[in-house]
Amino acid sequence: MIYVKTEEEIDLLREPCAIVRDCLSFVGGRIRAGMTTKEVDTLVYDFIKASGAEPSCLGYCGYPASACVSVNEVVVHGIPDERILKEGDIVSVDLCAYKNGFHGDGARTFCIGEVSPEKKKLVRVTEECFFHGIEGLKEGTPLYDIGYSVQRHAEENGFSVIRSYTGHGIGREMHEDPSVPNFGRRGTGVRLKAGTVLCVEPMIAAGGWRVKILDDGWTAVTVDGRPAAHYENTLVVREDGVEILTL
Ligand code: MF3
Ligand code: CO
Repeated sequence: MIYVKTEEEIDLLREPCAIVRDCLSFVGGRIRAGMTTKEVDTLVYDFIKASGAEPSCLGYCGYPASACVSVNEVVVHGIPDERILKEGDIVSVDLCAYKNGFHGDGARTFCIGEVSPEKKKLVRVTEECFFHGIEGLKEGTPLYDIGYSVQRHAEENGFSVIRSYTGHGIGREMHEDPSVPNFGRRGTGVRLKAGTVLCVEPMIAAGGWRVKILDDGWTAVTVDGRPAAHYENTLVVREDGVEILTL
């Protein structure tokens, strides 16, 4: 069931979303070659705590960290560890903050130093996929129009859309209905109501879309070992468009 939010609830949601936004740009300003993914996680934990919020991911279904830090062929849910970031890596950082009884959620993919032209394009196209996905989105838009537009842009650029992970509703819970796939048929799915809060999060692979989960039970990697990127924002569907809360 989709919980449409009241204006009062949306106001409460603004603060955790602003913390996610600020934390992502804080990390973006510091992430560099030589840092471990665990050090990235520490930046996230400290930032969220200092903001008076809680890192929603920590302990979620047993997840052991505050951020998902996913390098190169890791699509999502990379568990921070002693892995050292190096020049040429692309690193997605996905994090959630909980404050005022609500969760905010966002992700960016950062380039470490000079990366290959293919990775650079992948990162750019993944971000563009988000904006294509929300183009024209407003009250009454069929849900799967989002995925249709994401998929079209990804595939036009020779990339593929990860199928087994999707965007989602968000609010008092980190994952609420509806599930927001990054692929689909135009004109299908529920018509979104104003006040619906969604996380739209294209996960795009340079090669094939198949993923497997490593033995840690979390880390999702592409089967072909080619890189993947991730870009996510939390937004509110409005009568005449969207309001993005994590930008
Ligand atoms: N932030 C992720 C999302 O976009 C959720 C991460 S799963 C967790 O839905 F276990 F790390 F929390
Ligand atoms: Co999300």
